[in-house]
Amino acid sequence: MSERASEPSGTARRSPEELRSHRWYGGEGLRSFSHRSRSRQLGLNPEEHLGKPVIGILNTWSGINPCHMHLRERAEQVARGVWQAGGYPVEFPVATLSETFQKPTPMLYRNLLAMETEEILRSYPVDGAVLLGGCDKTTPALLMGAASADLPAIFVPAGPMLAGHWRGEVLGSGTDMWRYADERRAGRLGEAEWSELEAALARSPGHCMTMGTASTMTSAAEVLGMTLPGAASIPAVDSAHHRMAAASGRRAVELVWADLRPSRILDERAYADAVTTVLALGGSTNAVIHLIAMAGRSQVPLGLADFDRIARDTPVLADIRPGGRFLMEDFHYAGGLRALLARLGARLHLDRITVSGRTLGEGLAGAAVHDDEVIRPVDRPLAAEGGVAVLRGNLAPDGAVIKYIAATPELLRHTGPAVVFHGYRDLRDRIDDEDLPVTPDSVLVLAGAGPKGGPGMPEYGMLPIPTRLLRAGVRDMVRISDARMSGTSYGACVLHVAPEAHVGGPLALVRDGDPITLDVPARTLSLDVPDDELARRRAAWIPPEPTFERGYGALYYEHITQADTGCDFEFLARPGKNPDPDPE
Ligand code: FES
Repeated sequence: MSERASEPSGTARRSPEELRSHRWYGGEGLRSFSHRSRSRQLGLNPEEHLGKPVIGILNTWSGINPCHMHLRERAEQVARGVWQAGGYPVEFPVATLSETFQKPTPMLYRNLLAMETEEILRSYPVDGAVLLGGCDKTTPALLMGAASADLPAIFVPAGPMLAGHWRGEVLGSGTDMWRYADERRAGRLGEAEWSELEAALARSPGHCMTMGTASTMTSAAEVLGMTLPGAASIPAVDSAHHRMAAASGRRAVELVWADLRPSRILDERAYADAVTTVLALGGSTNAVIHLIAMAGRSQVPLGLADFDRIARDTPVLADIRPGGRFLMEDFHYAGGLRALLARLGARLHLDRITVSGRTLGEGLAGAAVHDDEVIRPVDRPLAAEGGVAVLRGNLAPDGAVIKYIAATPELLRHTGPAVVFHGYRDLRDRIDDEDLPVTPDSVLVLAGAGPKGGPGMPEYGMLPIPTRLLRAGVRDMVRISDARMSGTSYGACVLHVAPEAHVGGPLALVRDGDPITLDVPARTLSLDVPDDELARRRAAWIPPEPTFERGYGALYYEHITQADTGCDFEFLARPGKNPDPDPE
């Protein structure tokens, strides 16, 4: 079936004169003359692009982003598809946000890429867009910008890298690095093995192949309806990935003719389905922040309470690391996201329209699970409830999250004395101090690592277990912070405590030895200190200096919102006038 044949009947088709780009190219004035003249300077004859949908290919490729190193080639394949369908492709390089290399954290720059995406689409003669991303923050950033620009857009997920292999063992990027790092600190792994692991963990283009933030968010993009069906799990180096890229280019042209915009796709039902799917995948806690921010751009109310509510009724079906055993390659061979969505069935809104021009349900036709161990049946789930809980209490008045399927079950109800670190440097300097008053029952607290204090809310939330305890066999402890945690990480880590310590949240008031109680079944997190003592500490609290005084950092610092509202810039999240330019 051709892509155009899949467009729902009754969809009005626009004329070339109705294209947004026509305002640049089609007028009689001097500026249109200049746009046509400069197009000839680009080497284009008029018949090659005039009257055709201009498709912006927003490419997050960079020579420093291994997760996206194949996206130059994929952009060419997208362009091939655009030409085939009668469009005119234009590639725009945009910020790359390499999770591994960008410091202090790419989260500091998610909103910058979102702004860049929106403004590139707004300021150029673009009719529609193909968004190429996948490494953690790139997916939400591109989709946030596209939602705000609200031009027809389709997302091409970078695809997971191939599984790592080492000495007969299958390795997951991130997850197995953390695991073996602990083994090394415990003295159970030699330098030779550690060096071999360096070469074995990540061996092909593509994003992390665990159910980390990248796989979680590309899967969210698919269920939201912003990718072609089945796109998210295709390994980056699979020839199917090449074909998906070209098909997405073709589809982008049809999206423009049909004027099928993100605002028609990204509704309340779409975000509810994204939450359900992320939970059924055992996905990254980062998805909580990103989906809330993305929904905000779509003017859809979505909050922490929605995650907790949906989690209580959603089984975890994907047995993928770090919460499970397998990797994204296994998930793809087991049927991929379409198979998992088919299993979720009536829990989803199957009659929603997607970028394919068909409904979510139509896109699942023929989907089947080929391995019940990787994608569990609903009556034999990995966990009966979604793996994320939202906690509240006097230590987290605006909420905190824990991915409890990745935690030691015995720690999910725990009271212990706090051992407090103020910022990452303090943590790094003292965690292995022989005099640190820490026992396996202690609660490790990191304050000052939130959106403003981090800055950028880095992924410090899996605080390292003190080496002394590691050597004694301890592998998990209750840890609490206003930071995030890598989606590839694990442990009894309470994250995203809001408000953060830097703005005076209760985390700033915790002292060494204070008893803290975590009760995941009751969804509570409490600092067991009398109110009058907390009031005394609050009165004595001195607000820290601003993290930034100039540059992008100052913009970020002044406008970033807290974790429970998605860490967007308040001026990007709010509705309001932002007119399309008049090119004449
Ligand atoms: Fe890019 Fe993990 S480092 S997805």
